[in-house]
Amino acid sequence: MVLPKDIPSSAENYMDSQTLTKLPISSILIIIAMQTEALPLVEKFQLSEDQKSVFPKEVPWVRYQGIYRNLQINLIWPGKDLALGVDSVGTISASLVTYASIQALHPDLIINAGTAGGFKAKGASIGDVFLVSECAFHDRRIPIPVFDLYGVGLKQAWKTPNLHKELDLKVGKLSTGDSLDMSAQDESSIVANDATVKDMEGAAVAYVADIFKVPAIFLKAVTDIVDGEKPTAEEFLQNLATVSAALDQAVTKVIDFISGKCIHEL
Ligand code: ADE
Repeated sequence: MVLPKDIPSSAENYMDSQTLTKLPISSILIIIAMQTEALPLVEKFQLSEDQKSVFPKEVPWVRYQGIYRNLQINLIWPGKDLALGVDSVGTISASLVTYASIQALHPDLIINAGTAGGFKAKGASIGDVFLVSECAFHDRRIPIPVFDLYGVGLKQAWKTPNLHKELDLKVGKLSTGDSLDMSAQDESSIVANDATVKDMEGAAVAYVADIFKVPAIFLKAVTDIVDGEKPTAEEFLQNLATVSAALDQAVTKVIDFISGKCIHEL
């Protein structure tokens, strides 16, 4: 928790968590898996790349930080895979960076922003940006009582009724797995999760945020229609740049809305 400038940091010791949650949000952690999605926001918020990393020297994770509308913004991109040079997408990197960023930066709020596949049968179209209501996994099948629920890993997003009212965003459930494509088994789990959008990071970020009780919200922009005619990888690559621009506009509107508000006003 970063305290406003006029409150000495020693005061934090004397404030209970009730008091702290009534203060305006001051520190936001944005987690974005792909460079194409992250860089326009770095520009928009005029963030600068950390020169002295808060992360271990071995990891490729990149932190961009700065102040925007009185908010300390930390945007973390997990960087390029050290062996293959592609974006470190997926749940492993997402959970690791979320854990390390919470430890190092103590955010008031996490925003996981990224692209997703959408289901037209559930009302998704290319370029839609969804505010996620809940996240679950679709590729952790453990058919043993209780382990089955652990595998699904259902987590609620932080409830943001005012944000929802103010911004024109669709709301839907998110299902997360480590594959861009969708197997028949994934499909039946996604249907069971009642998901409208499908990504590769959200539920992993939600898992870690929940452990540390950091409120988290999820913005997912649709690059491809999973239940459509076009091959997913082709449609995803075709739409990535334009849909990333729509995502970045939505993130900016969300941050503008958050500025000056406390967590219970969202
Ligand atoms: N990100 C963008 N499109 C996706 C899809 N179809 N599945 C998982 N993650 C995605």
